[in-house]
Amino acid sequence: MMNITSYTSDALLIEGGTRLSGRVRVSGAKNASLPIIFATILTSDPCTVEDVPQLLDVKNACDLLLMLGAEAHRKGDSVLIDPSGISSHEAPPEIVRKMRASILSLGPLLARFGTARVALPGGCSIGARPIDQHLKFFAKAGADVSLKDGFIQVELKNKKPLEFSFELITVTGTENALLYLSSVEGRSILRNIALEPEVMDLVEVLRKMGAEIEIEGRTAVVRGSDYLKGFHHRVIPDRIEAGTLMVASLLTDGEVYLENTVPEHLGSVIDTLRSMGASIERRDNALLVRGKATRPVDVYTSEFPGFPTDMQAQVMVLLSLAEGKSRVYESIFENRFQHVYELRKMGAKIEVRGRTALVEGVEELRGAEVFSTDLRASASLVLAGLVAKGTTVVRDLYHLDRGYERLEEKLKELGACVERLPSLVS
Ligand code: EPZ
Repeated sequence: MMNITSYTSDALLIEGGTRLSGRVRVSGAKNASLPIIFATILTSDPCTVEDVPQLLDVKNACDLLLMLGAEAHRKGDSVLIDPSGISSHEAPPEIVRKMRASILSLGPLLARFGTARVALPGGCSIGARPIDQHLKFFAKAGADVSLKDGFIQVELKNKKPLEFSFELITVTGTENALLYLSSVEGRSILRNIALEPEVMDLVEVLRKMGAEIEIEGRTAVVRGSDYLKGFHHRVIPDRIEAGTLMVASLLTDGEVYLENTVPEHLGSVIDTLRSMGASIERRDNALLVRGKATRPVDVYTSEFPGFPTDMQAQVMVLLSLAEGKSRVYESIFENRFQHVYELRKMGAKIEVRGRTALVEGVEELRGAEVFSTDLRASASLVLAGLVAKGTTVVRDLYHLDRGYERLEEKLKELGACVERLPSLVS
């Protein structure tokens, strides 16, 4: 009999087999909210960020702003920030340890103070997550970059425009550079930038603040300003949450109407799911997902507009139940197959060879006790529980809570049998 007591962190108890149907609203994007929250460091004017999801990562980003001296508080689905009181240029380890994206405070703090000290973000379970491109950019910008006592220390005498080419495409590397350059007078050029929708949402905010940014292909021309003003911005919908909910519907042969989506942000995900047999109809800024997706396909993750690595674990659950063999190639992170070992406990037939996973579809998955290892892996285990025969317990839910707002409630509203087991030791 499965032990359904939860000890050190919340767990989800899921009874598989119910068909999902109904309407659900997709939350604002976590990975757009984070750089936009840090953009407020560039100004002393009040800023309002709307449709910010209630997530651990967002709370950590706001806590960092508070530690720097800003005021930040939530009002409904918005976060109101008054950055005028920011007086510290240091992001301490206790925050950075909890959220690697704190590295995005480096560019704005350097822009504001001419110096910044940010604790080194460790790696995480999906990879070493180096930040060499970020540091090369700041060095090229003329900063003195040093690593000391577990901190990144950057000092800059005077800000001047520059040209820089990233050696590889990095989302937060691009964002850090854009945040910094928006405050640098003159014409700067960034080449080989990331084009993820979350990066483009940050660009919209920086333009509202007074930076001139033109993007042509993977090149950005930035004319920054010494004075950047406050902004009011509604963040884009979370395309990864939308993709996750689409997979949930398809796994249960359901019919789900996703409100608040930008279909253009989901092109490769929609194409992949349609090639598996899914019916996906666009309705303005909503998507109607119907039926199943059982045809095996090969999936290659790559930078936007390619198939997003953040959807790899989720689509693997669908492939585990497809009528045949599929291959999944994870080109972005070196260790992003940890969900495979947990899915195997549920009967999935997946073999990992380096960056490729060979998936052989099976008739059904069986409920089991499984452990989350990272944000998107935890989502894939919840998805597997929805369709598995019997009961599934997904443990270490803090991974899920970092990136999904009320996921179990949204699934329950769609008909899923899912309950959160609060940890006994909170
Ligand atoms: C962002 O991480 C996202 N996080 C990740 O989402 C996402 O998986 C990733 O982009 C890829 O799309 C946020 O936006 C907060 P990268 P980031 O720099 O910026 C290597 C989630 O699930 N690299 O684009 O850290 C790196 O190791 C999270 O919400 C260097 O080698 O990713 C990786 O292999 C997980 N040197 C590749 O590039 C560098 O200086 C892409 O990383 C930077 C990156």
